[in-house]
Amino acid sequence: MRTVLFVDDEPSIRNAIERMYLERNDVRCLFAASGLEGLDILEKEDVWVVVSDYLMPGMRGIEFLSKVRGVRPDTVRIMMTAYADLTIAIDAINKSEAYRFVTKPWNNKELMDTVDEALMRYQLVQSLGTEDEALYFSLAQTVELKDPYTKGHCDRVASYAVALAKAAGLSDEIVNGSWLHDCGKIGVPEGVLNFPGRLSEEDLKTVQQHPRWGSDVARQARMSDTVINIILYHHECIDGKGYPSGLKADKIPIEARIVAIADVFDALYSDRPYRKAYDFERTIEILHEMTETHFDQRLMELFLPIAEEVRANG
Ligand SMILES: [Fe+2]
Repeated sequence: MRTVLFVDDEPSIRNAIERMYLERNDVRCLFAASGLEGLDILEKEDVWVVVSDYLMPGMRGIEFLSKVRGVRPDTVRIMMTAYADLTIAIDAINKSEAYRFVTKPWNNKELMDTVDEALMRYQLVQSLGTEDEALYFSLAQTVELKDPYTKGHCDRVASYAVALAKAAGLSDEIVNGSWLHDCGKIGVPEGVLNFPGRLSEEDLKTVQQHPRWGSDVARQARMSDTVINIILYHHECIDGKGYPSGLKADKIPIEARIVAIADVFDALYSDRPYRKAYDFERTIEILHEMTETHFDQRLMELFLPIAEEVRANG
């Protein structure tokens, strides 16, 4: 059962959260009034997500979360903090004691969305850890559900990437990574993912976190380097201007260079929230224009006959 533990020393806050979750039958909420009480519950209960207040008498939020990390490393940790303590919260995230933070006073929807994403993240780590291919596939579909315009996208990217890997003389080991390349989008709010226009600078930054979030999850689930490389580096560009690391040319692992081409080809050749699909000629033209800055020239040449085949099969 999707279980969340809220830790806050103020009864009024615990009550407000309890009321907020009254109608959610899909989430079980547990409450603790202190870090010690929280740790006690964690010993007995299968807690997926912990939301902890920052300023509490006795054990502070950061100390508590770092203890949680020690006893249940997979449990996703969220920090709740007054706006004034924001720098501390960000520090906690950087030291990776927390996955996200929510500011007080909170907005109900924002808190619930953050918790829902954390629950999904927990589930993702648990299922990735099983190395079950059917599960990878269903996870890819979960991402697509969240981002409906990418319906079928992961599946198509995987088939193009496998074809390109074969043409380049590599194994088809990249199939799992291709399915999962966007799994970090689970961490991006739906409103941002499906926004039908130009994103604000801030939202764009959030979207650009998806390779890091996804690869963190994959690493935590102890997936292969190939899978992690694809998730982390599929938005890198040959000229070093991609994200998140700005790697150049062959510093970008080949499996990620392959998926990058497959990903962009499919993005152009299918409908997106903000535009219709390009026709085949224009798609190839754009890919050519992007090659010098974005793609591996040799792989791009190998990809052209594959793209032709995609067109032929309609
Ligand atoms: Fe992506």
